Amino acid sequence: MRRKVTVIGAGNVGANTAQKIAAKELADVVLVDVVEGIPQGKSLDMLESAPVEGYDVHLTGTNGYEETANSDIVVITAGFPRKPGMSRDDLLIANYEVVKSATEQAARHSPNAILILVTNPLDAMCWTALTVSGFSRERVIGMAGVLDTARFRTFIAEELSVSFENVTAMVLGGHGDTMVPLVRLTNVSGIPLSELTDQATIDRLVQRTRDGGAEIVKYLKTGSAYYAPAASTVEMVESILKDKKKVLPCAVFLRGEYGIQDLFVGVPVRLGAAGVEKIYEVKLMEDETAALAKSAEAVKELVEVLKQKAK
Ligand code: APR
Repeated sequence: MRRKVTVIGAGNVGANTAQKIAAKELADVVLVDVVEGIPQGKSLDMLESAPVEGYDVHLTGTNGYEETANSDIVVITAGFPRKPGMSRDDLLIANYEVVKSATEQAARHSPNAILILVTNPLDAMCWTALTVSGFSRERVIGMAGVLDTARFRTFIAEELSVSFENVTAMVLGGHGDTMVPLVRLTNVSGIPLSELTDQATIDRLVQRTRDGGAEIVKYLKTGSAYYAPAASTVEMVESILKDKKKVLPCAVFLRGEYGIQDLFVGVPVRLGAAGVEKIYEVKLMEDETAALAKSAEAVKELVEVLKQKAK
């Protein structure tokens, strides 16, 4: 049976996500946007590349939610992207309204779906979706860690002139300036990073990873990154739909894990057919625990603002 994925927001991240899902023949795709014509036009354009690319999935675009009914996965990318000089947190209130309304409607039409959040500020938008949908925490997941990790892996591979695939890294924490790249657990085909380069180089790569999103915004000027965010989202979609059980860093709602209570923070999880099937609690050193706590504090500040607004 064909699987169905709804992608809300037919902008840069959403359209690229839809295109990659189709290219991998993972599912039929419904693209939703508030702007009339955009999801219809983009999805038809993608559909017309099917005979050339050779994929047999269907793509439709809509401004409503009826067509999204009974989706297996709903990816939420709707919202505003960053402009130069803006932090992800500057998007908080505007994107809260967007994600709230998108979640309400999507959850009503697909009560059994798994939600993947992409809209920033990510961890606060995950909280919004969890609260509004009433779904269990296994079915509300944020895409951030896969992207942050991909950026770290890219910079390491380029620095060391090795294959991108050979670099394994772990980035924990919120999707912001306080993210926590775990250098101790980063390696190239099992060789610890610390044996391959000096501390000053590692520090530089860690900082570039933290600033990875801003680096792209600075180049683009009118928006933020979308190719790597879309690729990262599709890795999560694929792991769920194919029940691959990949272990990936994702934003999940912690209930005491890592000493963090009732907040979405990026940690390693196993993604399978049920969504988040397991949360891995990696043993951390003191400084790593402190960095993660600081990152969680930054997420908490944003959620407190939203809690006040929701009252
Ligand atoms: N419902 C559906 N779509 C909406 C809504 C809504 N309520 N509000 C806005 N949109 C749509 C816009 O019309 C636009 O097409 O969301 C789309 C966003 O696309 P872009 O502006 O191209 O932004 P994009 O780069 O895709 O980023 C989207 O993902 O990575 C994050 O920080 C980024 O929060 C941003 C989000």
